[in-house]
Amino acid sequence: MNIAIITGASSGMGREFARQLDTKLDKTDEIWLLARRREPMEVLAQTMQSKTRSIVIDITKEKEMRQFEEVLAIQNPKITVLVNCAGVGSHGIFRKQSDQQIADMVNLNIVALTRMTKLCLPYMHKGSKIIQFASGAAFVPQAAFAVYAASKSYVYSLSRALSKELKGSGISVTAVCPGPVNTPFLEHAYGDVTSMSGLKKLTIAKTECVVAKAIDDCKRSKTVSVCGLPMKVLYLTTQSVQNVMQKFM
Ligand SMILES: NC(=O)c1ccc[n+]([C@@H]2O[C@H](COP(=O)([O-])OP(=O)(O)OC[C@H]3O[C@@H](n4cnc5c(N)ncnc54)[C@H](OP(=O)(O)O)[C@@H]3O)[C@@H](O)[C@H]2O)c1
Repeated sequence: MNIAIITGASSGMGREFARQLDTKLDKTDEIWLLARRREPMEVLAQTMQSKTRSIVIDITKEKEMRQFEEVLAIQNPKITVLVNCAGVGSHGIFRKQSDQQIADMVNLNIVALTRMTKLCLPYMHKGSKIIQFASGAAFVPQAAFAVYAASKSYVYSLSRALSKELKGSGISVTAVCPGPVNTPFLEHAYGDVTSMSGLKKLTIAKTECVVAKAIDDCKRSKTVSVCGLPMKVLYLTTQSVQNVMQKFM
């Protein structure tokens, strides 16, 4: 059985991934939707043509991840696509953030994403695709978004390194690096979206565009997917600076 796995499928970009892959995937028998909330996944599944499986799971909980590992071992599927979309961000000054807010970002954005990737890899083959949700925040450290930006730098770095490691196996890894996108994430991160900087508000992208570009880039096995002019400028600028720095180090 060939399957696609999407974490964070109950909302925002994970849900949009499910919608778009529903019509764009061939050679895939089932799409597995993963998140903690069942209802939004079931509502989504009803609108999809593909056979879907809604899996209620908190991917930061080791016990639940072990159960998922067992499901994979029993079903022994071929994973054609893994989309690691689940992620969380809390905006605010580091020393004022609670230990819980910081742990939530590290545990979900870094630990759970790494664990899910490792767990799925044995079921991936030539042509399989891994899509990792990083962020434009990965490119530069961000005051008042310090842990979130650092967690996304981790995802970006991990993805690029894995992409190299896996080259010979024919498995591609794409790090998706959007700026702000109009999903519930922004409200969770900022509480009040009006408190976002004017520049960030101006560059808010549409979920559908970010996901369509990510799918397109992943099909071409591109290592990094950047959507929209402001993010492309930021990406190219930081890349050029890094290239110059590397010459002196
Ligand atoms: N929106 C933006 O501005 C933006 C910009 C750049 C990058 N990103 C990244 O894009 C990804 C998707 O974000 P989004 O904008 O789609 O956010 P979202 O709408 O808030 O969705 C987050 C998803 O993660 C799931 N999730 C949260 N905690 C979980 C856990 N412990 N276990 C399993 N699932 C969990 C949520 O489902 P449940 O609550 O049902 O578990 C939800 O489906 C994230 O990695 C985010 O960091 C977002």
